[in-house]
Amino acid sequence: MKGVLWLLVFGASFVVAEDGLNAWLRYAPVPNADALRAQIPTTLVVLNTTEGSPVNTAGKELSQGLKGIVGLRLAPCGKSRPRQALTVGTVAQFLDANPTVRFDLPELINDGFYISVSGGNVRILGQNERGALYGAFHYLSLVSQGNASDLVVTSNPEAPVRWVNQWDNMQDGGTHGSVERGYGGPSIFFWQGRIRPDLTRAGQYARLLASIGINAVVVNNVNANATLLSPENMDGLARIANAFRPYGVQLGLSLNFASPELYGGLHTSDPFDKSVIAFWQNVTDNLYSRIPDMAGYLVKANSEGQPGPLTYNRTLADGANMFARTLQKYGGICMFRAFVYDYRTLNQTLSWKADRANAAVEYFDKLDGKFEPNVVIQIKYGPIDFQVREPVSPLFSHLQNTGSAIELQITQEYLGQQAHLVYLAPMWKELLDFDLRVESKPSKLSDIVSGKRFNQTLSGYAGVVNVGMNSTWLGSHLAMSNLYAYGKMAWTSSTTPEGVLGEWTKLTFGHDAQVIDVIKRLSMASWPAYEDYSGNLGVQTLTDILNAHYGPNPGSQDGNPWGQWTRADAFSIGMDRTDKNGTGFAGQYPPEVAAMYEEVETTPENLILWFHHLPYTHVLKSGKTIIQHFYDAHYRGSAVAQTFPEIWKTLKGKIDQERFDHVLFRLVYQAGHAIVWRDSICNFYFNKSGIPDELGRVGNYRYRIEAENMDLKGYKIYNVQPFEAASKGRAIVTVNNSTQGIASTTISAESGKYDVAVNYYDQAIGNSTWELYLDDSLVGRWKGDLEYTIGKAPVFYIDGQTATRITFKGIQVTKGSSLKIVGTPDGMEPAPVDYVSLLPEGLVD
Ligand code: GCU
Repeated sequence: MKGVLWLLVFGASFVVAEDGLNAWLRYAPVPNADALRAQIPTTLVVLNTTEGSPVNTAGKELSQGLKGIVGLRLAPCGKSRPRQALTVGTVAQFLDANPTVRFDLPELINDGFYISVSGGNVRILGQNERGALYGAFHYLSLVSQGNASDLVVTSNPEAPVRWVNQWDNMQDGGTHGSVERGYGGPSIFFWQGRIRPDLTRAGQYARLLASIGINAVVVNNVNANATLLSPENMDGLARIANAFRPYGVQLGLSLNFASPELYGGLHTSDPFDKSVIAFWQNVTDNLYSRIPDMAGYLVKANSEGQPGPLTYNRTLADGANMFARTLQKYGGICMFRAFVYDYRTLNQTLSWKADRANAAVEYFDKLDGKFEPNVVIQIKYGPIDFQVREPVSPLFSHLQNTGSAIELQITQEYLGQQAHLVYLAPMWKELLDFDLRVESKPSKLSDIVSGKRFNQTLSGYAGVVNVGMNSTWLGSHLAMSNLYAYGKMAWTSSTTPEGVLGEWTKLTFGHDAQVIDVIKRLSMASWPAYEDYSGNLGVQTLTDILNAHYGPNPGSQDGNPWGQWTRADAFSIGMDRTDKNGTGFAGQYPPEVAAMYEEVETTPENLILWFHHLPYTHVLKSGKTIIQHFYDAHYRGSAVAQTFPEIWKTLKGKIDQERFDHVLFRLVYQAGHAIVWRDSICNFYFNKSGIPDELGRVGNYRYRIEAENMDLKGYKIYNVQPFEAASKGRAIVTVNNSTQGIASTTISAESGKYDVAVNYYDQAIGNSTWELYLDDSLVGRWKGDLEYTIGKAPVFYIDGQTATRITFKGIQVTKGSSLKIVGTPDGMEPAPVDYVSLLPEGLVD
């Protein structure tokens, strides 16, 4: 009866509103709680009860977790130890406390843990305190997934560096508010140039990260602000480190290379200058006096126009080593980024061989072995910049005497910015499994970054995460599976994307098989769909690279020095990166891989335009031309996105309403924006190549009523730039920012039930409102408030970043009746409208 009552009380809480703050650590009751509870000892032995120690934290998590998951109230151990207990601590603490217990020592390395559930005893032992905490989280995860019976787990991390990078600015502003490329609200660390007084969220973040094995957070933007080094801010950083410490998470810092000049009042930042070296040693000493366990530094130098050692004719190694030496007496690490290129030297028209992708190997190759042992080179997974598909950076095969770490992005900078669902683990898995065949021997990327392939002791993973104050952390509940998978894959690279997703779903949304299945279907389909509608065949994410890196803008790739070129002209497209004829990038790989990429026939087709410049009429293995493949893929990807909201809706009532609605809103938005993507890209290349779509879809929209063709009062026609961001190139805007506009037309479609879609633009620089009427009866009224609902940053352009769609389903429409849109501008937003689509039910266009 007690069990039933408990389930009634706690089980009911399962469908209460959830805001996402606890992410996968909700400790929600599980269906087989009674059976599980019976298998767990009721006494808790915590082998270090010092407040703030990770072992003590582990004890607290176990108490809290088991109470939530199975309704068990653990009792602390009294003087006499019972025969059966749940014990948590380090191996050394355990042996100390139990000198007579016979015990086979598990083989553990730093941060590793051992769990044994046997004979009514549960032992969770770490190689160190952090390992014990990891073990506790792992045990709780197992129980949450319904498993507490006899088991033995010995788990060691593959790599010692399992960091996350936050790109937090000291204050609002910059590229994307207070977190660069962050889509989950303001920084949890900084506000108005200082460290926040209340660091509750920092502690909560550390808790989440510890539960997936992350051991350090670089808290500030790689585009670092030198004022971080003020004594007041150093004190603040120490407070962040204090918030992290109970979770075994260390603090790391991004440095601004020019700080000696910007902050120290020196006339140079030359790494060979004695006063510069003294400046940095002093900074490091001051930081370590406040944060003795600081993880180290992250340095972005000579990148995107920023200064670095090359500015002073020193090598990148000279620069990295300067920082590394200051850290050595403290055991700190210098993560030095390989994202080094000089856009000022890149000119697309002058040289066919110019290629930003070549830069990293060109800069670092000669330096292998010249770095201090505590330097790790942090390399983005691909040679350009977090694109939807890139080949593995060849630099990983060149650094054999230097530790390297792979930089992944959990924040979806080029991948839909958390407004699109894109589950990234399948992409990471492909990258980590890629065999670089160094010296014709197996050289999987995962074995390189684990240090195994080249016998490196310092190497691993860096994930750009960019959580914010939003209770969902990343701005989207489903995006959190990326963070979870990142930690798990950094611990064990063979983790499967599907497996880890199922685990995350159970912990985040519960055990319902349908919930697990739906989230799997959506997530596993999401990266292929996004690739299909945003840029396929290795052409890169065809987004607006000059602005927010969001929404379609294929023309922005070329004609500028940023080097994300596609070299698309009227006849052909793609970067010729071959050795024989192109930029030579393919030749940067070890011979077997280089040979594969050198030839069109052997290059995997999903990268064909990355490595080759080909006519639109080139025939792929599928028998389709490149241009037809483009059209088909963009239609296919956007069609898949249309299914997402419908699939999600089947979960109504199966998860709490709050998260159900939140996710649904995003999936509906994504479906609409996928159409914007599809049409922009298809029309852009149709216009460039003049080659029509064999299926007659591109440019022919039989269900649409173009806004510019309606009768306009208070609205005027607006030529959208780039043209492909509007249907037929034009939209309408109100004639001024204070009076309403009306666009009306007579319906010529046959009478019947339709889904009525309106494509409009929400710039997030005001909250325009729109009303849709049929024969003067209101069909719907909506607001341009995506800045609040999906956290969109303000954009001044009416283009593919701001284009969006709203659909009213199952509307009775009568031939000859009038359709009217009333737009009310607000702020600087002139209630822009692109078109209305009258879609026979079941059709989307
Ligand atoms: C990209 C990104 C920038 C970031 C840079 C980096 O270019 O858009 O915001 O600063 O990468 O990784 O350093």
